[in-house]
Amino acid sequence: MASAPGSLKLFGEHAVVYNRLALSAAFNRRAFCEVNPAQGGITVNLKDLGKRRKFNFNEVLRSYTELSGMVERGDMHGLAKARKDVFSPYKMILGEFSHEFGFTAMDISIHSDVPRNSGLGSSAAVFCSLAAALNSFVHGGLGREQLAELANLGDKVVHGNPSGLDASTCTFGGYISFRRGEGINPLKIKTEVPMLVVNTGSQKDTGEMIGRVAGRYKKDKREIDRIFDRMEDTALSGIRALKSSNLKKLGANMNTAQECFRELGLSTPAIEKIIEAAMSNGALGAKITGAGGGGCVIILTKEPGELIPIYKRMGCESFQTILGVEGVK
Ligand code: MEV
Repeated sequence: MASAPGSLKLFGEHAVVYNRLALSAAFNRRAFCEVNPAQGGITVNLKDLGKRRKFNFNEVLRSYTELSGMVERGDMHGLAKARKDVFSPYKMILGEFSHEFGFTAMDISIHSDVPRNSGLGSSAAVFCSLAAALNSFVHGGLGREQLAELANLGDKVVHGNPSGLDASTCTFGGYISFRRGEGINPLKIKTEVPMLVVNTGSQKDTGEMIGRVAGRYKKDKREIDRIFDRMEDTALSGIRALKSSNLKKLGANMNTAQECFRELGLSTPAIEKIIEAAMSNGALGAKITGAGGGGCVIILTKEPGELIPIYKRMGCESFQTILGVEGVK
C-alpha cells in the first residue's frame, strides 16, 4: 500500500504555470493505492467512483501512445476529449511505467480522502500514490523526482498544462516553494499554521481554468504579466512571513493573493461570501486555493473551530488542516 497527501496552495496558482514562484504545503488528507499480483491484464479499481476496468497490455500501450502524442503536441482539444474517459490518466501512467519496467499483470485499487475537483490536488495525490505503489510492486527503485514526474503525466492528461506543483507537493510533502523548470525547494517551517478549508461545493475543472487564464494571457499579455509579478512578490513576502512566524503578515499576503485572483476573473459570488464571513469573524486572511472558479477557500484564523458552525449554516463543508505532513510513502 502506498499513500500520498493532498496539496494546499498558499501562493502563486496560475502564475506558477508562467514560471512565477508558488508556495504549497502537503496536508493531512491522503490518497491510497494498493497493487496486487493478478493474471492476464491490468485491472484498475477506482473505489470512490465505483468504477472498475480491466485492460489488456495492447490497449494500455495504444492509449499511452495516443495520449503522449497529444501531450507532446500540446493538443489541448484532444486531451479535453480524452479525459472524458476517467481511466485515461491511469493508462498514461501505466504506459510510461511499463515502457521502463515491462508489462506485469496486476490489480490496482485506489481510494482517496482528498475532496475531488476542489483545488486540493486530489488527482496528483492519487497519481503519486499509484506511481509509488507501482514502483514498490516491481522494486523499481525510482526516486522521488521520478515519481513526481510520473504522477505529473497523469495530471497532464487531466489538466492539460499543469505546472507540476501539485505532483511535487504530494510527492515530497512538507512545505515547498516551486518554480517551473527549476523544481522544488523544501522549506523548513516550524510555525503551526491554523488553516481552515471551506468548500464552495461547486466543482471546477482545473484544466478549464488554466485554459481560461491562457486565453486572457493571449489577449493581454502585459496586464496578466503584471498580475503574475504581483503574485510572485506576494509569494515571496508570504514565505518570509511564514519563516518568521508572522501570521498577521501571512494573512495580509493571502488577502493580496485573493485580489490577484479577482483581477484574473477567477473568484465567484460563493467564494466572496465565504471570504466575507471569515474576515468579519476575525480571520487574518482568506483566499482561493487551487485554480478558482469554484473549489475551496483557505482561511487563516486563530480560532478555526469557531468558523465551522458559521459555514455549516451557510451550507458549506469546512475542515481544519494540519499542514506540512509527510509526502508519498
Ligand atoms: C492547481 O492546483 C494550481 C494551478 O496553478 C495549476 C498548476 O499549477 O498546474 C492552477
